[in-house]
Amino acid sequence: MNDSRIPAARLGEGGPQVGVQGLGCMGMSFAYGPTDADAARATLERALELGVTLYDTADAYGAGDNERFLAPFFGAHRDEVVVATKFAVSIPPDEPTKRIVRNDAPYVREAVDASLKRLGVDVIDLYYMHRRDVDVPIEDTVGTMAELVREGKVKHLGLSEVTAGELRAAHAVHPIAAVQSEWSLFSRDIEAQVVPAARDLGVALVPYSPLGRGFLTGALTDAPTELASDDVRRTLPRFQGGNAAANAALLEPVRAVAAAHGVSLAQVALAWVQQQASVHGLTVVPIPGTRRPQRVEENTAAARIALTDDQLALLEPIAAKVSGTRYPDMRFASAGRE
Ligand SMILES: NC(=O)c1ccc[n+]([C@@H]2O[C@H](COP(=O)([O-])OP(=O)(O)OC[C@H]3O[C@@H](n4cnc5c(N)ncnc54)[C@H](OP(=O)(O)O)[C@@H]3O)[C@@H](O)[C@H]2O)c1
Repeated sequence: MNDSRIPAARLGEGGPQVGVQGLGCMGMSFAYGPTDADAARATLERALELGVTLYDTADAYGAGDNERFLAPFFGAHRDEVVVATKFAVSIPPDEPTKRIVRNDAPYVREAVDASLKRLGVDVIDLYYMHRRDVDVPIEDTVGTMAELVREGKVKHLGLSEVTAGELRAAHAVHPIAAVQSEWSLFSRDIEAQVVPAARDLGVALVPYSPLGRGFLTGALTDAPTELASDDVRRTLPRFQGGNAAANAALLEPVRAVAAAHGVSLAQVALAWVQQQASVHGLTVVPIPGTRRPQRVEENTAAARIALTDDQLALLEPIAAKVSGTRYPDMRFASAGRE
């Protein structure tokens, strides 16, 4: 075993064993501007060498393109990787800012078959409900997902952006291995109710956008002008106008901690979210997104950084000062429904 490989963790009591940091694959074909397919493929391979085994995608990322892009990698390494995908969200091609959310049984059944086909796998290791459709009782949706487990189409279940109450109701129907929600130095609303519920139930947390969608790396100094015209971050309040400038000013403590460790801002952001496992007493497996092999090396190295109590205290006030909500309509996230 190579020294640079990250340690492992288990998602939920009966869930899969994975590297303690996963890889968010969304940006490889969707959302964050132009991509280089060769670099993205090299990123996947480098991640695997470093012990990353949880690969995160969704049917909504590029209307299936992201799942299709990952299929050859999964095919070449089927026994080494944990394939995680999601259903519930679709984006009308003529309205790229709109999100249609469905959780009904016929939709779930159609979605899983389409994902299996695009991914080129016989079974999905971790299948998430991506977003909550409040017109369908969560017990019914998880009941359908449990049927997929019994039919051998899916191994483990996950939920994204659910409230604590939704998580408890779902877990009573079938064990939930992981909740995937936004969690970072900039986005801490889930700590109030979702994180304690997950800890009580033995459910793992999979923080998405742990780098604040890139903002916490310090690389986006003038977000409104730097982003490509089709970059979805342009639609998010935190990246717009005065909010972006105000949020850039919040990075000073992150810079100070990074300088003290001789590491990058991205590494501090990832070390912070990883350390929430011991702060809150649950398993935490963040899925930073990158399309560059060097950044996978940088990001996985963060798993070996331990922040001191003084450093955690310095970083503590940041989230409360962030300008702009995570989404234009916060009902799209758990905090908007708690
Ligand atoms: N469940 C949900 O609703 C949901 C929502 C959003 C995302 N997700 C999942 O979570 C994953 C991660 O979230 P995310 O991609 O939104 O945000 P993120 O991980 O917070 O940030 C990704 C951005 O940071 C850049 N980056 C990564 N490592 C870096 C480093 N070391 N230095 C400088 N920049 C770096 C990436 O650019 P490069 O690619 O150019 O390196 C990309 O622009 C996604 O890929 C997706 O799988 C789920």
